[in-house]
Amino acid sequence: MRHLPTRTTRTSHRRVIGALTAGLLCTAGAAAPAVAESPAPAAATAAAAPQSGNGLALTPPMGFNNWNSTHCRAEFNESMVKGIADIFVEKGLKDAGYRYVNLDDCWAKPQRDADGKLEADPVRFPNGIKAVADYVHSKGLKLGIYTSAGTKTCDSVGLPGALGHEYSDAQQFADWGVDYLKYDNCNNQGVDAKLRYTTMRDALEATGRPIVYSICEWGENKPWEWAADVGNLWRTTGDISDSWGSMLSIMKQNLPLASAAGPGHWNDPDMLEVGNGGMTDTEYRTHFSMWSVMAAPLLIGSDLRKATPETFEILSNREVIAVDQDPLGKQGTVLSSTDGRWVVAKEMRDGSRVVALFNESGSAQRIATTAKAAGLPQAAAYTMRDLWEHATYNTAGTISATVPAHGTVLLRVAADRKWAAHPPAVELGLNGSPLVEAGRTAPLTTTVTDLGRTPATKVSAALTGPSGWQIKPLSPTGSATVPTGKALTTRWQVTPPAGTATGTYDLTLSAQYRSPAGTRVRSSVPFQAHVVVAPPAGSSYLSDLPQLSSSNGWGPVEKDTSNGESNAGDGNPLTIGGTVFTKGLGVHAPSAVEFYAAGACSAVTAQVGVDDEKGAKGTVAFEVWADGTKVASTGVLTNAMAAQPISADVRGAQVVRLVVTDGGDGVDSDHADWADLRMGC
Ligand code: GLA
Repeated sequence: MRHLPTRTTRTSHRRVIGALTAGLLCTAGAAAPAVAESPAPAAATAAAAPQSGNGLALTPPMGFNNWNSTHCRAEFNESMVKGIADIFVEKGLKDAGYRYVNLDDCWAKPQRDADGKLEADPVRFPNGIKAVADYVHSKGLKLGIYTSAGTKTCDSVGLPGALGHEYSDAQQFADWGVDYLKYDNCNNQGVDAKLRYTTMRDALEATGRPIVYSICEWGENKPWEWAADVGNLWRTTGDISDSWGSMLSIMKQNLPLASAAGPGHWNDPDMLEVGNGGMTDTEYRTHFSMWSVMAAPLLIGSDLRKATPETFEILSNREVIAVDQDPLGKQGTVLSSTDGRWVVAKEMRDGSRVVALFNESGSAQRIATTAKAAGLPQAAAYTMRDLWEHATYNTAGTISATVPAHGTVLLRVAADRKWAAHPPAVELGLNGSPLVEAGRTAPLTTTVTDLGRTPATKVSAALTGPSGWQIKPLSPTGSATVPTGKALTTRWQVTPPAGTATGTYDLTLSAQYRSPAGTRVRSSVPFQAHVVVAPPAGSSYLSDLPQLSSSNGWGPVEKDTSNGESNAGDGNPLTIGGTVFTKGLGVHAPSAVEFYAAGACSAVTAQVGVDDEKGAKGTVAFEVWADGTKVASTGVLTNAMAAQPISADVRGAQVVRLVVTDGGDGVDSDHADWADLRMGC
C-alpha cells in the first residue's frame, strides 16, 4: 500500500553504486609513534564506581557532522560550520529537533602548543573553536567536537589524540563551550578500551559542563555490553559509506542490539548519508526510516548548503523524527526478515507501534504482519498512519503493503477507538512475473484489497506504463464495493513495443475508492517490469549476457575483471590461487546478480574463489539460486584456497541468482570471483 493522495510518485532512477573509499578503519592502531604518551593512571579510573549517567541524550542526539560529506577536505572550515548552523535555523531543522553541529576529524593543528593545549587549524578555523561555539550558541544550537582515544586521531596527517591528555583536553573543550564529544579509537596503543573510554567519561564529568559523550570504537569491544554507564551513545559498527550495501550491512549489525538501547545510552549505527548522492531517494527514505525505528542518533552527514529539496523533505519529516525521538526510548525489534522482506516494530510511549515494512530485494514485494504480532491489544480495528504519505486509514488488523524495491513503508498503528473516522486502508498487489520480452504479451494480475474494517466503495484500478506500452484489462477494473478482506482482482495483458531495450521500466498500479463517509482516496504503487531477452541456446558466458539486476558490497559488479571497489572498470584480471581467468564476474560481498533464464536453461557452472588481489584476506561463500530455491553452494572459502568448481541444476528456472555472502565474518576484503562462469541453455 502506497497512498499518494496529493503527490505523484517519484520515478526512481537506477541506482548508481557510488565510488567508495574503504574508510579509515584500516589505519586504526597502525603507525604508533616512537614515543607513546602514557595514559591516565589506571587504578583510579578502573576502580571508579559506575556512574548513574550524565542525564543527557534522553532521546537520541540529533544534529550534523561534516565527516560523511567532506572527510578532511578543505571545505570543512568555519564558513561551512556557520553555514550549517544558519540552515538549521532558516530551514526549520532546528525546530524539527536538530541541535548539535559537530566537527569531526581535522579541525586541529598537528602540534599542541607549549602548554600542551590543542589548537584549531588556523586555515580552517582562523578565529578558533570558541568563536565557532559562540556563533553556534547564538543560534540556540550546540557544538560538538572530535578527538581520538589514542595518541593521534584517525587521519593520516597525524593530529593529536587525547590518550594521556584526557583531563586537560576535556577541560579545554569545556572552556571553548563544547557540548558533545565524539571519541574515536585510532592509535590507541593497545590500551584497554573500557579504561580509555571510562577515563574520558570521568574527565568530561570533572569539567562540570554537560557534554554528550559519543564512544566511537566501532563495536570492536562490544560496548553495548558495558558502556551504558560510560557513554551516551556508542558506535556498533565500522564506518558507513554512501552506498546501499554499506547502509544495509550496518543496519543488519545494529538491529540485533535492540535490548541495549534506552534513554541516555544508544546504539550508534553511524551518521546519516541521506543526500550524499550514492543512493536513490527511495533508499535514503529507507535509511532514515530504519535509523529512526532503531532509535539511532540522527546526525545529518550531507552538506546542507548543496542539498536538494528531496533531501530536506526526508530529513525534515517530523512524523519519522517523532519515531526516533519517542521518549520511551525503545529500539525497534525484528519480527521477521524472510527473503529480504523485513518487518521491524517499535513500541511507542503512547502504546502505538511503529511498523517498518522494508524491502531489501530488487523487486516490489508484499510484506505483511498483523497488529497482534506488532504487540497491539485485541481491537475491532486500528488506526494506521502512513508516515511518509501523511495519511491515516483504518485496518481490521492486517498491516501490509506492496513495497517497492529497496523501499520502506513506515506505519504507526494504534488501538484507537476513533478508527472509524478514517477510510479503510487498501493494499495494492501484483501477481505474476513482471518479466516481459519486447514485442510479446505477458499476463499480469492486480489486486486492490480492503484491509479496513469498513468497506471500500466505488473502487477502480488502473495500470499504466511507459509510453508505447500496450496495457489492456481482460476483466473489470471497477467494483461498487469491496468489503473487509476482499479484493478487486483484474487481469491484464502487458506488451512492450518490439525493439524495447532490455532493462527496468516502471509500471504504476493506482486505485481510487471512497470510504463509507464518502472520503475519496487515491493510492498508487510503482512496480518494476523487466524487459528481457531469452538467453541464446548452447553455452554462454554470463558476463556476455544482460543482467536483470545486481547489488554489490562495493562498486559495481565487474565483467571479466575483479572488483576494484570504486568505479566501473577499475578491477584486475580475475585471479584465484595464482590462476588467471579471462571470463567471469568480479564482485564484492554482499552481492547478488540475477539473469533471465526463460525456463530454457539447464546448468550454471563456474570456478569460484576469493581473488588474490587482497593478499591473505577475505572469506566468502557462493550460492546459486533457481527462482526461489538454493540449488548449489560452496560453504566458506578463504583466500588461501584454489578455485573451487560449482555446478547448479537450473532447469525450469525463469531467473538465476548468483549470491556471494561474507562467510560470516563481515565483508572486509571480500573480493569474490565467479570465474569461467557459464550457463547452458
Ligand atoms: C574514524 C571514525 C569516523 C571518522 C574518522 C575520522 O574512521 O569511525 O567516523 O570520525 O575516523 O578520521
